[in-house]
Amino acid sequence: MGKDVIIALDFKNAEETFSFLDKFTGRKPYVKIGMELFYAEGPQIVKEIKKRGHRIFLDLKLHDIPNTVKGGMRSLRDLGVDMTNLHAAGTIDMMKAALEGLTREDGTRPLLIAVTQLTSTSQERMEKEILIEKPIDEVVIKYAGNAKEAGLDGVVCSPLEAGKIHEACGEGFLTVTPGVRFADGDIGDQVRVTTPERAREIGSDYIVVGRPITKADDPVAAYERCMREFVGE
Ligand code: C5P
Repeated sequence: MGKDVIIALDFKNAEETFSFLDKFTGRKPYVKIGMELFYAEGPQIVKEIKKRGHRIFLDLKLHDIPNTVKGGMRSLRDLGVDMTNLHAAGTIDMMKAALEGLTREDGTRPLLIAVTQLTSTSQERMEKEILIEKPIDEVVIKYAGNAKEAGLDGVVCSPLEAGKIHEACGEGFLTVTPGVRFADGDIGDQVRVTTPERAREIGSDYIVVGRPITKADDPVAAYERCMREFVGE
């Protein structure tokens, strides 16, 4: 599986997004469109970024009853994205329904991955607020197993969990990992974080990096540093 850095385009609107993407002359980074940008600009933003030649991970984290998620995925399937996602907490039935909705008539579909536990969630919050008392690692592995059983391609997880997920679900099961920070950078609201280099050692397939690149004084240099540390190029 080819390793890559995915930039999280957490911008308010198309104008800010394109002024950011315009800084990248030559390279076409893999990008992630999340709910902030998608809700502001709608499907058109996906089509425009695709037209510029970027690969796209559409990060909308669907979580609803199976029939509703199936319909939602059906609406997303022809946008031309390369990868999209949902919450594993929605159950195996919901994940199977999502796959059905996402599969086009010719049998092709974007990659579908599941969020296990958000990288901003700590053991303490999980216990106190959502009443899950098992160790977070165990919860993440169980959710990843459910996603695999449903037929999904991988999970979104902390880079710290990528190795264990590969052990449990196989090397081919994708680990897409946000919660990445440079050794000398700010953590912000993330909790379970690590550096691009360490993420590579543990075995992440893709790292998702937002603020360390988008808020950097020189975003292109920050992206290149990430590529060097994670991919080695
Ligand atoms: O700015 P930062 O690098 O923290 O951005 C991380 C990105 O990854 C955000 O867009 C966030 O929504 C996303 N994400 C996450 N944790 C997950 C799933 C997605 O941080 N479990």
